[in-house]
Amino acid sequence: MMPSLRSAAVSAGLCLAAVLGACNRAPPTPGMARGEALFDTCVPCHGAEGHGNRELGAPNIGGLPQWYVEAQLRKFQLGHRGANPFDTVGLRMKSMSLALDLEGDLESVAQYVASMARTRSAPVLTGDARAGQTSYQVCVACHGPSGQGIEAVNSPPLAGQSDWYLLAQLEKFKKGWRGTNPEDISGATMRPNAMILDETAMANVIAYIQTLQ
Ligand code: HEC
Ligand code: HEC
Repeated sequence: MMPSLRSAAVSAGLCLAAVLGACNRAPPTPGMARGEALFDTCVPCHGAEGHGNRELGAPNIGGLPQWYVEAQLRKFQLGHRGANPFDTVGLRMKSMSLALDLEGDLESVAQYVASMARTRSAPVLTGDARAGQTSYQVCVACHGPSGQGIEAVNSPPLAGQSDWYLLAQLEKFKKGWRGTNPEDISGATMRPNAMILDETAMANVIAYIQTLQ
């Protein structure tokens, strides 16, 4: 009696799991449709247009290149970013990145994010853009003259990004919350550039970046 009851219960359990899509599940097909579905989980912080949310520290990600989005999602997963115990804002994103655990999901959502329109974020900080233009000459080699980013040196676009987020990241590089993991080679190329900037120089270079189209 008992064994058959148990097996009945087990198969009922399996049926229920199957209805919920939790068993014998074929992996979702990677691509735009999957990426769009996954993006629903990003909306609470990054917004429906991907433009970000200052209160939550979430940047404007819509229209960032796919290679960069993928690279950063991997860095969060590997603990190259968002791993410092004091980096509570980065930690929010790290836990999100870990949810992208099915084969192809990380690439699919990155593809979808890259397909979104890049909207500019209005400046909220003040700085001297003219003075910042001089400091920006150092950044040109990697981020490009118009802040468009250069994939060959793993450097993201900066133009159009929220100034408060750019400042937060320069500070994280300077403090060593970003760009210090021994395996994070590309992050290490950025860190010295943040370390030479004081608070005023950061505000100024960011004010200049806000003028780039
Ligand atoms: C709980 C809020 C939250 C959710 C949900 C979330 N993010 Fe984030 N995301 C953040 C925060 C906060 C940061 C900034 C982390 C930092 O300061 O280092 C961030 C940063 C990023 C970055 C780095 C951008 C850059 O310019 O370097 C990418 C890419 C990103 N998120 C993609 C996603 C994607 C894709 C999803 C959905 C699968 C997602 N995020 C869901 C909060 C969130
Ligand atoms: C030697 C190349 C190099 C130079 C020069 C350089 N950067 Fe970077 N920068 C990078 C790389 C590579 C990254 C991406 C790091 C990563 O993957 O975490 C980056 C990332 C950044 C980020 C984070 C962007 C984001 O979306 O999270 C900011 C802000 C930034 N750089 C600003 C600057 C500024 C301002 C200068 C000039 C003062 C500068 N960089 C000079 C290579 C460089």
